[in-house]
Amino acid sequence: MEIIVAKTAGFCFGVEKAVKTAFDLVAGGEKNLYTFGHIIHNPQIVSELESRGVKVIEKINDLESPAKLIIRAHGVAPEVYEEIENKGIEMVDLTCPYVKKIHKLVKKKFEEGFQIIIIGDRNHPEVIGTNGWCNNKAYIVNDIEDVDRIPDKSAQTFVVAQTTIMYEKWKSITEHIEKTFKNVIKSDTICNATSKRQNESAEIASKVDMMIVIGGKNSSNTQKLYEISKKYCDETYIIESAGDLPLIDTNKVKTVGITAGASTPDWIIKEVIDRMEELNRQDSEVSFKEAFEDSLVTLESGKITKGRIIGFNDKEVYVDLGYKSDGVIPMEEYTDRRDFDPKKELRIGDEIEVYIVRVDDREGNVLLSKKYVDTRRNWNFLRKAFRNKTAVDVKVVEVIKGGLLADYEGINIFLPASQVSDKFVKDLSEYVGTTLTVRLIEFDARRKKVVASRKVLIEEENERKIKEFWDNIEVGKEYEGTVTSLTNFGAFVDLGGVEGLVHLTELSWSKIKHPSEVLKKGDIVTVRVLEFDRESGRISLGYKKAEDNPWYNIAEKYPKDSIVKGKVVRLVPFGAFVELETGVDGLVHISQISDRHIPKPDDVLSIGQEVEAKVLEVDAENNKIALSIKDVNPINPEPAEDVKKEKTARKEKSEKAKEPKERKKKSAPENEEAEETSNSHVEKMNVTLGDVFAGLGLNGINLADSEDGEN
Ligand code: F3S
Repeated sequence: MEIIVAKTAGFCFGVEKAVKTAFDLVAGGEKNLYTFGHIIHNPQIVSELESRGVKVIEKINDLESPAKLIIRAHGVAPEVYEEIENKGIEMVDLTCPYVKKIHKLVKKKFEEGFQIIIIGDRNHPEVIGTNGWCNNKAYIVNDIEDVDRIPDKSAQTFVVAQTTIMYEKWKSITEHIEKTFKNVIKSDTICNATSKRQNESAEIASKVDMMIVIGGKNSSNTQKLYEISKKYCDETYIIESAGDLPLIDTNKVKTVGITAGASTPDWIIKEVIDRMEELNRQDSEVSFKEAFEDSLVTLESGKITKGRIIGFNDKEVYVDLGYKSDGVIPMEEYTDRRDFDPKKELRIGDEIEVYIVRVDDREGNVLLSKKYVDTRRNWNFLRKAFRNKTAVDVKVVEVIKGGLLADYEGINIFLPASQVSDKFVKDLSEYVGTTLTVRLIEFDARRKKVVASRKVLIEEENERKIKEFWDNIEVGKEYEGTVTSLTNFGAFVDLGGVEGLVHLTELSWSKIKHPSEVLKKGDIVTVRVLEFDRESGRISLGYKKAEDNPWYNIAEKYPKDSIVKGKVVRLVPFGAFVELETGVDGLVHISQISDRHIPKPDDVLSIGQEVEAKVLEVDAENNKIALSIKDVNPINPEPAEDVKKEKTARKEKSEKAKEPKERKKKSAPENEEAEETSNSHVEKMNVTLGDVFAGLGLNGINLADSEDGEN
């Protein structure tokens, strides 16, 4: 029996998109999902969606927010959109773009003053929706009598068609309209997909013994396919699934044509084809007579039954079926699995499911196949996995041209190189022998073609993690991350698919010039969120910790009046900065260095000099510590130096003082002697006190220069 399947059988693009989107939404965990009317005229799809929680409503009033409403490919009237909006319901508009175009046309022409005629079924949702775009004022006609009932034949008239009507109907009705109306513009809006499918069905029906039309019984385009096919083939049947197939007498029926309506999913078409191929197989292997005879016993060729393994050798497995003869499974009919080892895997007594190929193999045995049962089950499993987008574990067998060949219970699965990972894989051989979790992205059981992707699962998982990350991020939250790169301004850290930046100033409490002073690429670090912006994807991170701050608990570390040791790190006119530890400098004011007056700190201190000091005050809030060297061990200038400086200063002063005296001497000679005597007395006295002070170790007090001395 030859089976001819129409190329145009099944979903049109509008329906395909609607159904796929609905299943995708369900698979994505969408709750409160509704469809406005049945999404397509196919009971299996509708009940499958219902079983996954998608409810069907007929009126918007039946809905309460929160809800997500799917508008099917048929489209709706504008007032439905308004109702949806008024109720604040979320909408997924899957109106077929082709139908939307008709809505626009009708609206435009109606606004221009045309009377609108729609050729089609007035109860069809698409026609009801289209009528809404001309305020429900269209004349909906299905035959010539309907046309004749339109009262105004002189008005400007615009004619469109329901997308799925037969072209003959369109032609005959529009010809009549053009004859009886004065002013007509028509737009053939029959969908191309529909007319192609109808033409192909007519062509196939004209050359087969039996024609099978698969589709919902209430689908208008399926009904039309049936009508067209019936014209050319008396033996035309309309079925909704493989279970509805009529009895086929393969002696009479040599060719069968199969077509399907726009709402029929591929998997139903495939089931019908599989069932017919099975019939073919039975037909070639067992006669009707044999089948009848077999029916007299408990076993039947073409059926699946259970049995127990009673023995095996390299070529065959023997099975007890509880029948008068034992079953035999040739080893090649046991499994296709490449790694199958009968000695390791077969166990006497194990129960297995088998397909009865022939009740009597002419040697008195029942010929069985286990592979057939497994393959069918496995193909069904993969079909479901493909349809539901569920993950499948496959074993990589070898590297082949363009990717990897994997195995699922004896079924070959191709993994293109680009789908193996979300990153470039240089050497695919590393995957050979491993088990990978994949998603099927192409499935054609008829051509035995299954293509899988691991990359989509990885990407989805990454997306999920990123979403979860952003949903849970908080300022102050700590993450463990990996340093991915270092730049002049900071370090980038991967927090699990999302990168954040630790700015240079957030890396360390002490001043650093480059992040490499603290971190290196690949380091695992604990970081803290300082700031984030989900929209721009920016995250500022902190790495340094409060407790690592050298000023943390500073008052406890350096209590007031304690004696500390440090190193002079900076000298300024008003004092010296002494480093007590890395990052903690205290200030010794100039007045706290020495017992004596010193003009500049560097007169007695130098950078790097170790000193002891007393803590005078700790200002933890402003990171300041006041120290005193003089309270521990005052640093006074060297006496010799001191005296030398004093002498020089005195000499300079005395020279300066002489000048006015000279002038005075000239003008008042009588006072000159007395003045001179007085100055030399002071000088003498200074030298004497300076020497005395130096001798006492109290250098630095210059009587001549001091305020006391001058007064
Ligand atoms: Fe659209 Fe044509 Fe299908 S109108 S829904 S693609 S039959």
